[in-house]
Amino acid sequence: MATILLADDDEDIRLALSLLLSGEGYQILEADSAKNTIIQASQQQPDLILLDMNFSRDTTSGQEGLEILAQLKPMNIPVILMTAWSSVELAVTGLKCGATDFVEKPWNKHKLLNSIAQQLKLATLKEEHQGYRQLLAGDDIKDWVCHSPAMQSIEQLINQIAPTDANILILGENGTGKSLLAQRIHQLSSRHQGPLISVNMAAIPDNLFESELFGHQKGAFTDAKQNRTGRFQLANQGTLFLDEIGTLPLNLQPKLLRVLESGHYEILGSSQTQTANVRLISATNADLSQMVGKGLFRQDLLYRLNTMVITIPPLSQRNNDIKPLVAQFIRQFCRKYNKPNVTLSPQALSILQNNRWPGNIRQLSHVIERAVLLSTSDEITPQQLMLDDVQASESNNSLQLQSLPLQTLEETEKQLINQAMGKTDGQVIEAAKLLGISRNALYRRMEKHGIEHDA
Ligand SMILES: Nc1ncnc2c1ncn2[C@@H]1O[C@H](COP(=O)(O)OP(=O)(O)O)[C@@H](O)[C@H]1O
Ligand SMILES: [Mg+2]
Repeated sequence: MATILLADDDEDIRLALSLLLSGEGYQILEADSAKNTIIQASQQQPDLILLDMNFSRDTTSGQEGLEILAQLKPMNIPVILMTAWSSVELAVTGLKCGATDFVEKPWNKHKLLNSIAQQLKLATLKEEHQGYRQLLAGDDIKDWVCHSPAMQSIEQLINQIAPTDANILILGENGTGKSLLAQRIHQLSSRHQGPLISVNMAAIPDNLFESELFGHQKGAFTDAKQNRTGRFQLANQGTLFLDEIGTLPLNLQPKLLRVLESGHYEILGSSQTQTANVRLISATNADLSQMVGKGLFRQDLLYRLNTMVITIPPLSQRNNDIKPLVAQFIRQFCRKYNKPNVTLSPQALSILQNNRWPGNIRQLSHVIERAVLLSTSDEITPQQLMLDDVQASESNNSLQLQSLPLQTLEETEKQLINQAMGKTDGQVIEAAKLLGISRNALYRRMEKHGIEHDA
């Protein structure tokens, strides 16, 4: 039976709750102060905590309760808040600070027991879910399409290298499956029971780069109000996936290089050296060797990343993958939209196989999603693929570089961003889609180029 910690300075209340709950078969622990609550919670690891919002009876702000909540949060124990007067605002703040539910004093017996039972059930489900994730991960492997000769050789290669700890660099256009391949390598590796932590390098603001990767201690810099765990530590015993590695600014590259070379790093604000135990996978659609030639990417860093290189070819060179990919997407979207299963007409398949696919598999999945939504009979027709329209609108909507041979990468980037913003009437989300980067990455780049935006 579950153990419940009663945290309240009022002895009468603890007694009443204790009688009620032990009568229901729960084991009871008690704490009469904030300090005791934290000690009991960390030492006894109760399954649930009933927390009074105000320990000292003369304060009514609930501040004390919120402070305890913050300290309890990392312990992942469900907390039900109790307070003697009704304050919706305090309840909301408490829930935001990590409490799982809220009960008013004097309590309604049924409501309280219900809430406790529900929170305990949820916590169990969460734990089971962690276990199932492993099983589901196995399911993903089945969904991996690799019929084409090009993908068959990649398949062979990863079966060989996934179990090793070798660093892997994945190259390929947007939408070719770099992120999915990284997941698959992790699943096939000896670290599959450890975490897979993904970091989109394009989305990290320069000034937060170190804190994001290595973590910081409270007070390490002005905004460091709490300790923060870095991605290297989160990925401990597992895999760290650095996506869009080509966007890492030159001045930050040595910081990454150091940990890759020595395996050591420091948490910001601490002088204690940490040892990284991660397997590194990185990915980019950029030509890193060319960037090295232009002085935009450090050669020594590239050598650390590319112990093994896997290049995923564009979808247009993987003709044999199209049919099984389509079959998988049809199944997936019919399920999602609650439609009976449809098939693809032979003409429709031939159109898909002869299409250019600049957006690769991601684009194919969008086309199939729309076709499934449009389908009225049990067969998808060429019209429902709307590919003529797609291609027409794509040429309207695609970005074109003026061929200026002496333009720097910076200037080109700025030009493309301006074009994308023009085409989308300044809608950042749309423009980011067009550019194939995240909204954050776009904001960061706009700031860098001094391009106005409204957020
Ligand atoms: N080999 C594959 N088999 C099945 N689905 C794939 C495959 N490769 C990619 N996908 C799907 O295509 C989409 C784009 O893949 P993603 O890994 O995000 O590409 P990238 O990281 O290269 O931009 C995702 O929905 C992914 O699930
Ligand atoms: Mg990706």
